[in-house]
Amino acid sequence: MTLYCATTNAGKLREFRLAAQKFGGEIRIEPVPGLSQIPAPEETGRTFAENAIAKAIYYSRFAPGPLFADDSGLEVDALGGEPGVDSAHYAGAGAGDADNNRLLIERLRGVANRSARFVCVIALAEQGKLIETFEGTIEGRLLDAPRGENGFGYDPLFLYPPYGRTLAEVSPEEKLAVSHRGKALRAMFEFLARLSSPSPGARTAG
Ligand code: IMP
Repeated sequence: MTLYCATTNAGKLREFRLAAQKFGGEIRIEPVPGLSQIPAPEETGRTFAENAIAKAIYYSRFAPGPLFADDSGLEVDALGGEPGVDSAHYAGAGAGDADNNRLLIERLRGVANRSARFVCVIALAEQGKLIETFEGTIEGRLLDAPRGENGFGYDPLFLYPPYGRTLAEVSPEEKLAVSHRGKALRAMFEFLARLSSPSPGARTAG
């Protein structure tokens, strides 16, 4: 089965495909055909769930089968939950990961409370109709200088205490096993597996 996704973020796509290999059975992940030609909808929601649902419903109209969209970001306690849904554009429109990370380091200079979490909401839809949503989080602490070359986004600043390393210092498999996106993806694949294997009670007699 092909499951379509709606992301142009190469880091996310790598994680989607790794999760499909690990937990997805026969499921293959493909970007929705012609994604770069489809005008992107404005992300106006103030929660990850609102944005994920809006993206999934919108892009599923262009997909020949079920499609999921993820909305994710970093919530920093000392910044009242910022950058949150604005994580991708924290340092302004057109800002890249390095700009966003620099701004975050700046805003947290001298701040003692370093606790933060990544949140991911995945919405699954087909032909313009929402099917289900899945959420995952990971708690960590923000460093004042980047460490590691793997991952993407804020990973080099995000220390995961049980590993004693940032999410940019661990392997893709180690990140996926504990990350917000890994947890949400796993929940989605488990849901899809339940849908495709009818429960014993649903069997017809004879
Ligand atoms: P979205 O495309 O609106 O969901 O933006 C997500 C943004 O949140 C990314 O561009 C990153 O800045 C940040 N983010 C989300 N997930 C991760 C992650 O796993 N690692 C690092 N940064 C992330």
